[in-house]
Amino acid sequence: MKTALVIAASSDIGKHIAESFAKRGYSLLLTSTNLESLKNITSHLTAQYKVQVHEYQFDITQYDKHDSFLKSLPILPDIVVCSFGYYKDQEKALTDFSEAYKTMSVNYIGAVSILNLIANEFQKRKFGSIIAISSVAGIRGRQMNFLYGSAKAGLTTYLSGLRNRLFKDNVSVTTILLGPVYTKMSAGHNLMPVLTAKPEVAAEKIVKAGLSKKDEVYILFYWRWIMFVIQLIPEFIFKRLKPF
Ligand SMILES: NC(=O)c1ccc[n+]([C@@H]2O[C@H](COP(=O)([O-])OP(=O)(O)OC[C@H]3O[C@@H](n4cnc5c(N)ncnc54)[C@H](OP(=O)(O)O)[C@@H]3O)[C@@H](O)[C@H]2O)c1
Repeated sequence: MKTALVIAASSDIGKHIAESFAKRGYSLLLTSTNLESLKNITSHLTAQYKVQVHEYQFDITQYDKHDSFLKSLPILPDIVVCSFGYYKDQEKALTDFSEAYKTMSVNYIGAVSILNLIANEFQKRKFGSIIAISSVAGIRGRQMNFLYGSAKAGLTTYLSGLRNRLFKDNVSVTTILLGPVYTKMSAGHNLMPVLTAKPEVAAEKIVKAGLSKKDEVYILFYWRWIMFVIQLIPEFIFKRLKPF
């Protein structure tokens, strides 16, 4: 039986990712910063799909505990999904460095810390799949969200290099270049329905992309074209654009 580790399975997308693996008969290792928030997810998955689920309290910013967390797992998983992220108040992050640091820490530094460890184990074993959710916000810095975007840009570049490093060892690294999705994180944002995915739809596509060992994936295909056009705008025009 195959095993998937979903880090931040309590996220609105992560819980659907866990369900997509459960449907496929995977055993699950699920994490959250708060075990309480996994209770309903676990009882639903075990009742509905009869799969084995283990729960772990895990904070991506507690780097010194990442090694012992990995060693505490009953098995090295076949596939790992990074579904954690942090994007709250950019205005606060620009005046309060602890908020900026948290944004970098959850979205980038924490990801590097855990993925370095997992990558080394997968490399030794000669197989494994890593899926990490990055963001279209990391493709070009915009005044609305460039702090979060720059952390995701770092993540996307890290994943690209990791993919290159692990290719010869039969380890795949799938980067999800996600546009807006209806979740807690985007609540209160002015989202255009046609450009916004539902979490269950995004989750299923994320799992399929990882299982088919895709490299970089846009979840709604037109985001590839939107970002292509955004990247073509010359900087002297881009810097004058109103917030979008
Ligand atoms: N929603 C969007 O529009 C959108 C767009 C592009 C990319 N994304 C990315 O999609 C992924 C999933 O986010 P979501 O939209 O499902 O939002 P969400 O429901 O708010 O989930 C974010 C998750 O991040 C976890 N997290 C935050 N701080 C953490 C920490 N210190 N340690 C471990 N986990 C931590 C939280 O876990 P706990 O519940 O356990 O605290 C939370 O479940 C994230 O990578 C996000 O950046 C989202």
